[in-house]
Amino acid sequence: MSAKLIVGTQWGDEGKAKIIDYLSGQIHIVVRYQGGANAGHTVKVAGKKYVFHLIPSGILYQDVSCVIGNGVVLDPQAFQQEIEELRKENIETEGRILISDCAHILLDYHRTIDEHRETSAGDKKIGTTRRGIGSCYADRVNRIGIRAGDLLDEHTLKQRLEHVLEIKNRELERIYGQPCCEVNRVLDGLMSFRDRFQKYIINTSFFLNESLKAGKSVLLEGAQGTMLDIDFGTYPYVTSSNPTTGGAISGSGIDFRYLDQVIGIAKAYVTRVGEGPFPTELEAARAEELRELGGEYGATTGRPRRCGWFDVEVVRHAARVNGLTSIALTKIDVLSAYDRIPVAVAYKSGGERLPALPSAGLTNIEVEYEYMPGWKTDISHARSLADLPRECRNYIDKLAEWTDVPISIVSVGPGREATIAAG
Ligand code: GDP
Ligand code: IMO
Ligand code: MG
Repeated sequence: MSAKLIVGTQWGDEGKAKIIDYLSGQIHIVVRYQGGANAGHTVKVAGKKYVFHLIPSGILYQDVSCVIGNGVVLDPQAFQQEIEELRKENIETEGRILISDCAHILLDYHRTIDEHRETSAGDKKIGTTRRGIGSCYADRVNRIGIRAGDLLDEHTLKQRLEHVLEIKNRELERIYGQPCCEVNRVLDGLMSFRDRFQKYIINTSFFLNESLKAGKSVLLEGAQGTMLDIDFGTYPYVTSSNPTTGGAISGSGIDFRYLDQVIGIAKAYVTRVGEGPFPTELEAARAEELRELGGEYGATTGRPRRCGWFDVEVVRHAARVNGLTSIALTKIDVLSAYDRIPVAVAYKSGGERLPALPSAGLTNIEVEYEYMPGWKTDISHARSLADLPRECRNYIDKLAEWTDVPISIVSVGPGREATIAAG
């Protein structure tokens, strides 16, 4: 069978989980392939809201298996808390979640370091979620990480922890003035996690490829978005992984030839949480209006999201680096309040049009806007393109034309049912 990929085209929070939930009805396995509990993925079903941080958004479908891939940094505390919350909602997780033995484990000291680095950076801070993400990925690259598979052999894990903690404790004490971590305490925490979740930990790359070979369908769930990608985003104001297509392959270990659709999720306007450039950002009063209309507050940290207009160059960039086969356009219902809707159609520098989004940074660029007529009607009950007012269809058509990517899904509300299959 085949694999489909869902990837954010902007700065995250595009509504990825809403579309993943919508598509998961026809899927056997949903895989998170990067990021960690920095993600906040919201699904609304029958009026009830669920927010996922680590567990794949397909978990609401009983027959779907969920995989936490090798590219994820797994925070055992956040993971167990999420399992508990699902249990309270009577959603069975037992036997439905698999964890890659190569996924890195995020420990308390990763959170401590993230917190202290952000606090001490002053106005140079990244605005991270303070979930320890960058610190855990740094240890992975430095080859001093602990992986889920390491938990399966206590003796070797203890030896490894002794080595790793010697390095980390030096960092904690000397750079951040924090207390050291004791080997036995960290080990005990990891062993209690292992006692409960040992049977979840397997070679998920093997499992996924065998499942695909056997005819199962797989949905790869990206977290964050292209503009937060460590390589293709607004560095250094990015996350520490690759949400883009390359990261989906390396973070899941599936044979890339199974991938036949890459669906980019694009919000009908743009938001960003944290610091960093944002060319179409609105000034305070107008941003606040859009924030209230769209309910734009972080699903993980509750921070108000910065708001701006749709940026064609950003999505064209996402189309290139991800190889998008189509776009799912979300939250278009939020724009129903406006008489006219600005869309950024080009970037200029010194009066000259830039051929692409500059990789060196997004400062000192001029943005050229086109102004689209609004529709001023509630569209949240539309279930086909024909139900939408002409001006709204025109907005959708123009975005497809400018981004040069077909729009296959239009979302007109947070609920599963508020979705239009657009072709
Ligand atoms: P994700 O991180 O990309 O999964 O997105 P988030 O869950 O962080 O943020 C998207 C928010 O918009 C959530 O509160 C969703 O319930 C909501 N949402 C998703 N699609 C739509 C839509 O089409 N219309 C409206 N009004 N809300 C939506
Ligand atoms: P989802 O999956 C929006 C942002 C943070 C910060 C930067 C680095 O819900 O779209 P990190 O904690 O990753 O080191 O922070 O990335 N960020 C997100 N912004 N949505 C997310 O996830 C994000 N995950 C991280 O705000 O600017
Ligand atoms: Mg989110």
